[in-house]
Amino acid sequence: MTKLQLTLAIIKPHAVKNPVALSYIRNVIKNNFVVIKTKRIILDTEAAGNFYKEHVEKFFFNRLVTFMASGSIDLHIMGHVHAVELWRRMLGPTKVYKAQFQEPHCLRGMFGISDTRNVAHGSDSQSSAEREIKFFFPEFSFYNWHTNDEVRYR
Ligand code: TYD
Ligand code: MG
Repeated sequence: MTKLQLTLAIIKPHAVKNPVALSYIRNVIKNNFVVIKTKRIILDTEAAGNFYKEHVEKFFFNRLVTFMASGSIDLHIMGHVHAVELWRRMLGPTKVYKAQFQEPHCLRGMFGISDTRNVAHGSDSQSSAEREIKFFFPEFSFYNWHTNDEVRYR
């Protein structure tokens, strides 16, 4: 039995609306993580602002919040031994020019269309993952998640 680390993925509105991107991203997730919980929601701007409140002073805050509230988003609680780092690595750089030119095969390189519309969110640490999962899934139990498939998720 191996303990799984958890992370939160959010598929952003433009990617949820793009069937090619969405099915590709879902396959990547399904093939690499234990998918523990999934839900599709629409945020209002207040909730989007709360989720991204660490960025409230940034120049892109209003644009980010408006975009995140512009359509459905898909939430996935995902497990892997190195869930946080692996998902961030699969996403690639935040900025679209870096993603497209430096890491064209990452998800943001493939499907990102701007710094804001950069495909998906990934928690940046274990403590952010916990906070973010609680934000969207207040009832979620962090009871130790384990896998028997130690080869697949190591
Ligand atoms: P940040 O936490 O810096 O990036 P990441 O999503 O890689 O953790 O920023 C949060 C989101 O804010 C980012 O995914 C998209 C948006 N954003 C912009 O719109 N413009 C920017 O220049 C930056 C840095 C972020
Ligand atoms: Mg971040």
